[in-house]
Parts: sequence; C-alpha cells; structure tokens
Amino acid sequence: TYVVTDNCIMCKYTDCVEVCPVDCFYEGENTLVIHPDECIDCGVCEPECPADAIRPDTEPDMEQWVEFNRKYSEQWPVITRKKDPMPGYQEMDGQTGKLEKYFS
Ligand code: SF4
Ligand code: F3S
Repeated sequence: TYVVTDNCIMCKYTDCVEVCPVDCFYEGENTLVIHPDECIDCGVCEPECPADAIRPDTEPDMEQWVEFNRKYSEQWPVITRKKDPMPGYQEMDGQTGKLEKYFS
C-alpha cells in the first residue's frame, strides 16, 4: 500500500485525490490518509504530491504511518475532488515534527 505521511499535515494540496482510480483518500481537518486495504498499489498518486508526502510502505519505518492511515481512514469521509490547500501551506511545507505537534 501507499500511505500519506507527515508532510501532508497542514498543507493538504489534494492533487493526489484526482488521480486515484479507487477513490481511497480520506480527509481530516489537517491531513489526508489512504485506506491501506483499498489502495491497489498503482503508485500514480506518489508523483502528484507537491509535498512528497505519499510513500510506499516498503520504505523503512512505515509501520506507524500504515497504522495512522488505517485508523483515520475508518473515521474520516472520502475525498475525490481537488480543493484549495490549507491557508499557510507554503510555510508548513517541509516543517518537521508535524505529527507530534498536531496529533498529540
Ligand atoms: Fe490510490 Fe494508487 Fe495512490 Fe493507492 S497508490 S492511493 S490506489 S492512486
Ligand atoms: Fe497531502 Fe500531498 Fe495529497 S500534501 S493532500 S498527500 S497531494
């Protein structure tokens, strides 16, 4: 599966949702997630994210992100249409520690 990671938080460019063939992106207030059981591993969303936030779970240390994506995809509504990114997204893009800051 592919997962949405840290750098989506407080940015939400949403370019990713337009290309997903199975509509498996879900939207929270500050970030998006992918449902790991619905993702068909096609990989087309990965290069679409300007924040480089979408990663394959085959990369190291992805377990926490798979869990994060699974947990919230079961709680949040699906998103299939691109919308404006969050206010201040330019400043937030690339900041570290966003998970700790906004989800603890
Ligand atoms: Fe959707 Fe493909 Fe991205 Fe999975 S890898 S979220 S199926 S676009
Ligand atoms: Fe987030 Fe990138 Fe999509 S910032 S909303 S994963 S395009």
